[in-house]
Amino acid sequence: SRGADPVDEAITAHIAIPGALLPILHDVQDALGYIPGDAISRIAQALNLSRAEVYGVVTYYHYFRAEPPASHIVQVCRAEACQAMGSDALVSHIRARLGCSGSDSDPSNKFCVEPVYCLGLCGAAPALTLDGRPYARVTPDSFDNLVSELEV
Ligand code: FES
Repeated sequence: SRGADPVDEAITAHIAIPGALLPILHDVQDALGYIPGDAISRIAQALNLSRAEVYGVVTYYHYFRAEPPASHIVQVCRAEACQAMGSDALVSHIRARLGCSGSDSDPSNKFCVEPVYCLGLCGAAPALTLDGRPYARVTPDSFDNLVSELEV
């Protein structure tokens, strides 16, 4: 069974304090993983702000997402040691393999490819994380194997 609505809870918890918008947004994002459009409307109404004002804050802070996160997050190291070991070509391969050529996510939002700057695996470059798990000396083939395990 579902508990109380997280958007209502966030609004109730913070509405009485000045500067309630950011703590409300943080609570909603923590509970839902992103800030849905209907939450933006309800928060705007509760705080007497326009929807555009709330949406502007959501998009201004990189931490907040207005879209649900992808099911799988690939973070490819773009720092120096990994660049020297071919991370540019690896990223091109990964984006093509996952269908993320137009944006960070593929059209079904199953995968998202993001840059990250040094995973502490510089001696075993190029490195990436898949859903938070680190992988070293990644090749196009080893990446494809990782992905095919996910898709089984
Ligand atoms: Fe890529 Fe350090 S530069 S892991």
